[in-house]
Amino acid sequence: MGFKHVAIIMDGNGRWAKAQHQQRTFGHLQGSEKVREIAIAANDIGIEVLTLYAFSTENWKRPKEEVDYLMKLPDVFFNKFLKELMAKNIRIQTIGELEAFPDSTRQVLERAIQTTSKNTGMILCFAMNYGGQREIILAAQKYHEAVVNGIINKDLSPEIFEQFLMTKDYHAVDLCIRTSGEQRLSNFLLWQLAYAELIFEALPWPELTGDHFKELVLDATKRDRRFGGL
Ligand code: IPE
Ligand code: IPE
Ligand code: MG
Repeated sequence: MGFKHVAIIMDGNGRWAKAQHQQRTFGHLQGSEKVREIAIAANDIGIEVLTLYAFSTENWKRPKEEVDYLMKLPDVFFNKFLKELMAKNIRIQTIGELEAFPDSTRQVLERAIQTTSKNTGMILCFAMNYGGQREIILAAQKYHEAVVNGIINKDLSPEIFEQFLMTKDYHAVDLCIRTSGEQRLSNFLLWQLAYAELIFEALPWPELTGDHFKELVLDATKRDRRFGGL
């Protein structure tokens, strides 16, 4: 299996819930159960990093009740699944600016990161208060600072710039899947998706299954990736 880094835009929780005559928050709860199932499937097929878009820098625009609910979900999720993720040797990491979250949310995330930090298996990375443009601006600022402080010289290459991104320790994204039929990136991993294969899946996130995910990934590995060559 050639793919090292798979990223997912977990979209469609709200519409899925509406279709079940439920509140949008019920969709998010169901969506968090899916995170477990898809993470385990990704781990099964040997993916090294699975990055999940959980909360964007734009999602603050949503009604307060929905944002508040999303802030509480990590606690619910890790209470239920941290043991299992540990048993699977999965490491939790995050990208995004966690400083903006309530202390309790941050502590839950930091505890999960800490508890799993010595695991050596797949990295399950949650993009939380993450936006691709914001990440690139922060990287540019850090780069500038490093030049001003004489830590690096002015010659900038993609390889050097990547060292200032939040994903500096990860391989470039091989495949990005967005559920729920929307065909846009919504500010996700703009730099890292430069040569990613893309899949726009019609199913909403709460309906994706581990087997279907594996099939999507394995099909995509058969594509001819040319990276501009022949
Ligand atoms: C994705 O589902 C989850 C988050 C953005 C947190 P949505 O909440 O965007 O669901 P839809 O797109 O409104 O159906
Ligand atoms: C993208 O979904 C963000 C996450 C999945 C966390 P959105 O539902 O926020 O994207 P738009 O608003 O439809 O572009
Ligand atoms: Mg959406």
